[in-house]
Amino acid sequence: MSKAIVNSDLKDVLPLLARGKVRDLYEIDAKTLLFVATDRISAYDVIMENPIPDKGILLTLLTTHWFRHLSSTIPTLRTHFLTLDLPSRIPEPLRPTLQNRSMQVRKLKVFPIEAIVRGYITGSAWKEYQTSGTVNGIEVPKGLRESEKFPNGPIYTPSTKAEIGDHDENIHPDQAIEILGPDYATRISTLALTLYTAAHTHALSRDLIIADTKFEFGLDEESDEIVLVDEVLTPDSSRFWSVEGYEVGKAQESFDKQFLRDWLVGKGLKGKDGVAMSEEVVVKTREKYVEAYERITGEKYAA
Ligand SMILES: Nc1ncnc2c1ncn2[C@@H]1O[C@H](COP(=O)(O)OP(=O)(O)OP(=O)(O)O)[C@@H](O)[C@H]1O
Ligand SMILES: [Mg+2]
Repeated sequence: MSKAIVNSDLKDVLPLLARGKVRDLYEIDAKTLLFVATDRISAYDVIMENPIPDKGILLTLLTTHWFRHLSSTIPTLRTHFLTLDLPSRIPEPLRPTLQNRSMQVRKLKVFPIEAIVRGYITGSAWKEYQTSGTVNGIEVPKGLRESEKFPNGPIYTPSTKAEIGDHDENIHPDQAIEILGPDYATRISTLALTLYTAAHTHALSRDLIIADTKFEFGLDEESDEIVLVDEVLTPDSSRFWSVEGYEVGKAQESFDKQFLRDWLVGKGLKGKDGVAMSEEVVVKTREKYVEAYERITGEKYAA
């Protein structure tokens, strides 16, 4: 197991641009970021006090696997990935904890929506469907059961990207057109659906279902190309279900955070700040992140 980190501390070496829920973003130069995935974990929108060792490494290497796989399947795809190598400026003592949890990426203007694609009806989509028969205001076939695959193929259900502390809001694809303009909105929805379909096929070959996932895109202002950014197709940005346990007509176990969520609810700690996970929760949760990584990449994780 590697040394776990809750906060990276490179402020003396590189300017810290932002800390997200999971990542710390540093500026290497005007066009390049160091994208550091920490071992922070959040549940019900609250970050836990203690880390899940190796989580940031698993997310970074899994995202890298997907960038490679998707780029070879979809040759026109552009991603923000540059290298897993650390900038030479990082001093030796800091390098071991940063290696494999950091990537150098192109710094881009990120489009202000989350490009969510759903192949199966669950979560907020299932909730909305039960009351109105729609998903993000989109008419979908009647008579669907919980966790069922959308019979006419995956659907694009964008949300707004909320400011820190706010909640994202589901929107109809027409509202995404209003926010982004018709050209970018159409290119983004088409690309998101293409990426989901390619990823779903790959995951199924490893006995995993990707029920839904969230992509983020940036703009290369010189070439006007849409670029895939952020993390992709990790347990933090996607719902993975195992094929063995899949059963229509009920909620599926969340692949990664079920244990943590059940524990929080059982202890009455759901949504509370300042919670430290028990050792058992940490170990069990880590195992699920390792399992997702190993199933999807087909490689053993050697910590
Ligand atoms: N290539 C890129 N250039 C600039 N920003 C990026 C790039 N790729 C991803 N980002 C942004 O970096 C942040 C990643 O951090 P993290 O995943 O921890 O955030 P989050 O908790 O998902 O969201 P928030 O930013 O709301 O805290 C996101 O805000 C994302 O939009
Ligand atoms: Mg994120």
